[in-house]
Parts: sequence; structure tokens; C-alpha cells
Amino acid sequence: MKSILLILTLLFAVEPFQIIEATIKKADYRIVPLPKSIEVDTAHVFVLQADMTIAYDAGNAEVERIAQFTHQWAEETTGLHLTLTPNRKKAAVRFSLDGQGGEEAYEIIVDKKGILLKATTPIGLFRAAQTLRKALPIVKEQGAGSKEHVNAQEVQFPYVHIQDEPRFPYRGVLLDCGRHFFTVEFIKQFLDAMALHGCNQFHWHLTEDQGWRFEVKSLPRLAMEGSVREQTVIGPNSGIYDGVRYGGYYTQEDCREIVRYAQERYINVIPEIDLPGHMQGALHVFPNLGCTGGPYPVRTYWGVSKEVLCAGNPETMDFLKTVLGELCDVFPSKYIHIGGDECPKDRWRKCPKCQAKIKELGITDEGKHNKEDQLQTWVNHEIERFLNERGRDLIGWDEILAGGLTDGSIVMSWRGTKGGIAAARQGHRVIMSPNVYAYIDHPQLKDVAKQPRTTGGYIVSCSKVYSFEPVVPDSLTAEEQQCIMGVQANLWTEHVAYPEHAFYQLLPRLAAMCEVQWCSPGQKDFDDFKVRLPRMERLYDSLGLKYCHQVE
Ligand code: ACM
Ligand code: ZN
Repeated sequence: MKSILLILTLLFAVEPFQIIEATIKKADYRIVPLPKSIEVDTAHVFVLQADMTIAYDAGNAEVERIAQFTHQWAEETTGLHLTLTPNRKKAAVRFSLDGQGGEEAYEIIVDKKGILLKATTPIGLFRAAQTLRKALPIVKEQGAGSKEHVNAQEVQFPYVHIQDEPRFPYRGVLLDCGRHFFTVEFIKQFLDAMALHGCNQFHWHLTEDQGWRFEVKSLPRLAMEGSVREQTVIGPNSGIYDGVRYGGYYTQEDCREIVRYAQERYINVIPEIDLPGHMQGALHVFPNLGCTGGPYPVRTYWGVSKEVLCAGNPETMDFLKTVLGELCDVFPSKYIHIGGDECPKDRWRKCPKCQAKIKELGITDEGKHNKEDQLQTWVNHEIERFLNERGRDLIGWDEILAGGLTDGSIVMSWRGTKGGIAAARQGHRVIMSPNVYAYIDHPQLKDVAKQPRTTGGYIVSCSKVYSFEPVVPDSLTAEEQQCIMGVQANLWTEHVAYPEHAFYQLLPRLAAMCEVQWCSPGQKDFDDFKVRLPRMERLYDSLGLKYCHQVE
């Protein structure tokens, strides 16, 4: 009897390991986002084993870094410890820059010689390495209750030829660090999550009524004082306040570190200084820049403030040029976002300085463009010229259409797609980010009680995000369709204060969004996406990322 008990105990003690060891560790190329073409030969496999090597090009630092990432990901995911070598001969994983196609196109070829990643640029190789990473079987887990340190001894790779490239060149995600401050460490994790989904543009919303978060060295009080609010309203403007001072800002060193980290992951950082509205954080420090002279507290509740920069005060333009000058020094991005949204004109209509400026410029109401909207266009024009002189292009929210678009401005369409369509018809470049599909601060489940409380109004379910088609042929000619640069998901943070909550809002909706950004419409199929998603979720688990476990 004793020995039977002992055998039973031993059996149960080793069972989890037996289950894992018994699993066939096979690569699966049907990942998220789904590659354009996967020609697989399941009859043959290349077997990757722990003593094998990854070869990098010793003459190319970027390729070497991508090889290091691949090495790290293989170990994290499977536990297989491969060896990095500059020697291509007999290496199991090889990188080659004599691929073909655009700068993000890549191929993966698995045959008896091993695994070859091919592209024309390191960017393409990085995308290929991410695909290889996601195709790996996930053997190691780090989440709660996991079976840690269970390693694969080998992974079988069915022979394959993958050819892939993204549909849109612009694949963005916005993080609002104005309403709530997120640490540099968190932003790095956020960038890693973006790279995992093939995203390449990080839109960093840095300034708000509720907090100015970008250090301007020549205006030291701006971030020091403009970043701190006395307290924060609880929930959706309940009228009850938490009584806790709240603040935080990014030094220019922090920003450079974020830019460097993002660059290594082929992500461009687009900073946004929202102007001339959403400026109460700055007005708190410089009340002379407001039409009424203030005083202005850093705002402690949500919604749109009537307090905006005075467009008739010449000091306003000096201020903006100082801020944007330092911003351009810190951020190398070709694109600079100047906001332009939600700028009520109540103060401008009554302000002698603003009205004098309107007169001086000879502005009159013209059809659908009223005087004050055109005054905002004049501000945009001045700022655009300043940015163009520094080799940058201006992006603005679709409100910048109201007074007439400036010459080269790019429109980010958030109030539906109408603004984007109107801008494309005028030959302007467009980024589609319509709130009902792309605002991931909104709830993702019908049962609102099942998720943390966030922005109300409507639900942006995973399937809703997935269903978005940014190019509607009936609305635009073939030429106008070329103006659509891409698509962006926006994580606003009025009601998102903590990293875990931010990831819960982001995932898995970013997985849905990345197929909108990456895949051609003919490839998209939500049922098929749901079949591929669980492997992505296991990867989230292994990376310790929170996500919403229910998909609607
Ligand atoms: C916005 O949501 N106000 C761009
Ligand atoms: Zn004014």
C-alpha cells in the first residue's frame, strides 16, 4: 500500500513537467498580424536545437542587435539557448540584407539549411525576427502559477517560405501622458508591446490642461509647476476630489532615452504639443498668455477647457517657438503633432488682442470658415513655417480643417473618417484614427461592470476595432486613397492611471488594430483572428503583460 501511495505521489508530482515535455514543440507561422503569404511544406521540418548558432553580420551593428534580440526572444519563449556567432557557415539562423521589396518587406525561408531571414534593410530584418519570435512555441511561462524553467530541447520548423510587408507605412499608437504620467520604464514596455505588433509610430501626447510634461530648459518653471495639479476628480467629473497633489514630467534626457529605445525597435516617436487649446498647464505658469490673464489652476477635472492661448498676444508665438525649438532639438521625428483639437473660441471672440489680430490680418467670415477658426489657421501657418524650416511636417487633429488647412499639414481624423476624407480630397496626407473604432480608452466589453471603469459613451470592442476599413473606395479616387498614410489607436488616460490598467485597455485590442494596419482587407477574418489570438495571449502571459481575457 505504501509503495502504491509513493508511486502515485511521484506521478502527480512530475505530471506538469511530463505534460509539457510531451508537447510537440513546433513552430506555427499563422501569427498576428497574419503575414501576406505563407507557403508551408508540412512534410519536412528543420529541427532547431540548443547547441545551434545565430549568425550576425559582424560589419553591421543593426543586424548584430537584431540577432541579439532574436537570441533573447528564442530563450525567453522556448528556453532554447542558442549561440551568437559572426560565422555564417553552418549557422541555423542567418540574416541577409540582399532581399527584395520595400524597406519593411521581408522573407523567411526555412529549409534543410536552416532559417534564413531576408530583407533589404535592417527594418525588414527586425520585422522578420518578430515574426520568427511569434512563430515559436511558448514553452516558458512567467505568469502566476506558471511552470517556470521548463525548456524546449528542440523546436521543429516546418519548411516554409514567408513573404510579407505591411499595408500602411504609418502604424501608430497614442499614449496620453498628460492626463496621467507614466514612467520611462513603463513607456519602454509599451514600446516593446508596439514592436511586437508591428507598430512603428509612437504618438506621445505630452501636454494637457491637467499637466505639462515636457521639460523646456529655457523655461524651467513650465514643467516644474505646470506638471502639478492640486488634486484629481474621482471618476467622470463626479464633483468629488481625491485631495492628492499629482505630477510628473519628462526631462529632456528622459525623452532622448525614449527616442533611443524606440529607434532600436524601429519606432518613430512623434511628440505632441497640443495648441492653442489644451494649454491650461502652461497657462498656470504663464497666465499672461491667456486672453483673460488668469489665474489658471492646472486643471483638476476632465473635459474641454475654454481657457486657451491668446492668439493676439505676440508673446504667445514667442513661447510656442521656444517650446517647439527645444522639442525639435530633442525629437528627430519628421512629424511633429501640434494638436489643434477642441479649442473653444469663447475667449477669442471677446478678447481685444485676438480681435485686433483678426483685423490686422484682414480676416473676415468666409462661407464655412469663421474669423476665429481662420485665426487658428493663421497660428497653424506660423507654426508650420517654423517646423518646415527645421525639416519637419505638421500633423494636427481634424479640427485644423475648420479655418482652412495650411499647405503641407497632415490630418489625423478622430471625429470619424469625414475629416480624413475631406483632407484626402484636398490632396493632404491623412492618418485615420476614428474614435468609434480606435479610442481604446473606451470599454471593450458590453458588460461594463466586468472591466475597470473608464471613458463612457460607447463600447469599442475588439471586433469593432478589427472591422475598421480605413480606405473606403466609394469616397475616394485611387489617387486620393494614396493620401491615407495609415491608422492609429489612441489610449487616452483620464481614467487610466496605472500600468496594469493601461495594458488591459491596450491588449488584445492592439492585436486587432495591428491587422487593420498591416493586413490587406482580403486577408482579414475575425473568426480566423480569434483562432490565432490565444498564442499571442500566451506571449503576453510570458511577458507579464495584463490583457482583457474576454474578446467580443
Ligand atoms: C481628441 O480626442 N480630442 C483628439
Ligand atoms: Zn486673446
